[in-house]
Amino acid sequence: MSSVTIKTPEEIEKMRVAGRLAASVLDMIEPHVQAGITTEELDSICHRFIVDELQVVPAPLNYRGFPKSICTSINNVVCHGIPGSRKLKTGDIINIDITVIKDGFHGDTSRMFAVGKTSIRAERLCRVTHESMMKGIETIKAGSTLGDLGHAVQKHAESHGFSVVREYCGHGIGKGFHEEPHVLHYGKPNTGMQLLEGMTITVEPMVNSGKKETRMQADRWTVVTSDGSLSAQWEHTVLVTETGCEILTVSPKTGQP
Ligand code: MF3
Ligand code: CO
Ligand code: CO
Repeated sequence: MSSVTIKTPEEIEKMRVAGRLAASVLDMIEPHVQAGITTEELDSICHRFIVDELQVVPAPLNYRGFPKSICTSINNVVCHGIPGSRKLKTGDIINIDITVIKDGFHGDTSRMFAVGKTSIRAERLCRVTHESMMKGIETIKAGSTLGDLGHAVQKHAESHGFSVVREYCGHGIGKGFHEEPHVLHYGKPNTGMQLLEGMTITVEPMVNSGKKETRMQADRWTVVTSDGSLSAQWEHTVLVTETGCEILTVSPKTGQP
């Protein structure tokens, strides 16, 4: 049985460490995200850094059969892209999703990167998706609801003419990679579960420039937009506090969420 867990102060400290380490991998990989590199090269650089430097565990590797240590989702790929021989080219947008396990606790975070100069539309999609995630995070405090969060994300994304993916969502996180509750990125204010102090959850909206529908590719992992439109995603791991929340995956390099 799985249920919502409330973290003790000791566990919260471990979540802080795991979150910071996960974010540090994104800081490390950023300069490597350049035209000509393959996504399996990005995976192997991250894998070596996670295992050798940070001495922690890349959670995706062998998770339900996932074959790599990170997820790389390019352009119309919504999420769970498997690193492979595809080379990045100028104008691509790519989500890199990192999850590490430190001392038994998970830190989960992803960002969008632009390869060289991208279209205005792609840039706007990435920016609005980040803003949507932050609007969702800003609703979080003890006593707020998951509906408040989802509504804030959805309202911002849709007000820019974009759509929110329904099939994949955020999640509780801790000793488990994916714990209860499901954190939907759409919804109605004052509905759904109330958040409690000491819960840790992810907020990770996937926003499409076209229609919200998605398709799973034959590899059973890669999710793409059904209309071929661009998709963006950002993710933070967040601790619910009495008065608000603490983002555990802020960049250690820039201090930015
Ligand atoms: N990191 C993803 C998430 O945000 C999950 C990836 S599962 C994997 O929940 F198996 F694809 F790695
Ligand atoms: Co996640
Ligand atoms: Co993730």
